[in-house]
Amino acid sequence: AGLDDFIAGLPKAELHVHIEGTLEPELMFELARRNRAPIPFASVADVRNAYSFTNLQDFLDIYYQGAQVLQVEEDFRDLALAYFARAVQDNVRHTEIFFDPQTHTDRGVPFRVVIEGLLAAGKEAKTRWGLSSKLILCFLRHLDEAAAFAVLSSAEPWLDRIEAVGLDSSEVGHPPSKFERVFARAADMGLRRVAHAGEEGPPEYVEEALDLLRVDRIDHGNRALESETLVARLASTAMTLTVCPLSNLKLCVVKDLAKHPIPRMLRSGLCATINSDDPAYFGGYINDNYRAVAPLLGREGLATAARNSFVGSFLDADATAVQLAG
Ligand code: HPA
Ligand code: ZN
Repeated sequence: AGLDDFIAGLPKAELHVHIEGTLEPELMFELARRNRAPIPFASVADVRNAYSFTNLQDFLDIYYQGAQVLQVEEDFRDLALAYFARAVQDNVRHTEIFFDPQTHTDRGVPFRVVIEGLLAAGKEAKTRWGLSSKLILCFLRHLDEAAAFAVLSSAEPWLDRIEAVGLDSSEVGHPPSKFERVFARAADMGLRRVAHAGEEGPPEYVEEALDLLRVDRIDHGNRALESETLVARLASTAMTLTVCPLSNLKLCVVKDLAKHPIPRMLRSGLCATINSDDPAYFGGYINDNYRAVAPLLGREGLATAARNSFVGSFLDADATAVQLAG
């Protein structure tokens, strides 16, 4: 219909997507076969049936299991290239992808294998489709500070090809304060900073991400709406929120898409964007996420979200201006 075409035509940046969360069951089977890695599923349909979650942890357990089929550089390249190709179909012009090195290094896959595969795919997507991309190295917050420092050290040879650090995995019980010193070190190394906060965790975690981690964006941020003073602060500082509607629905962060808070966020002056999070697990890529909230936002709100995605990206001012000009 009209709105779908409008969404398809909007140039967008994607700012919240975990590359391991773009592993489609078909590729999971292909990689399991290539690597002779066992998977606990009999068929693609079996995998999709297992994707029913009641909270974040439910999802994470199955997501970390799926990632085990990723073993050699080619696997990471194929994974990212498949995502980039899919994003281009949705008129994504620029994407900033999260990757979770610890999910791989803890299984004996070297950091170099992960990042070189992802970088190769990024180069290929740029030449093939003109898609630009950046990497955000995420720390798993359920692991300790020393482990995060170790990942940061192993990233040093690639510092010029990593844009930012992020913080993901199990939120409740692992507040941003746990990683204050790691993020301070990342800042000293010239890296930007983002953090998942307020997906399941309280508004205080969003405040900690701002005050202690000095983040440039908040990933999710839904529960910030519980605090009026926090909303005022996020609005007055034009802090970008990377909102993920279908993820929120699948992880029961929201009950019902009709009640999704994104219209309220935009009305409160928050710089909300629309993103896919883990599209292979949550049943939709970025345009599906735009469509999920289209009845709530209308053309104006959808266009605002797309504009916010370029403004909130880590593209420099010139590249942002080029993108906004269409
Ligand atoms: N939240 C926290 N950690 C994650 C997510 C998420 O939505 N997706 C992948 N890792
Ligand atoms: Zn996420």
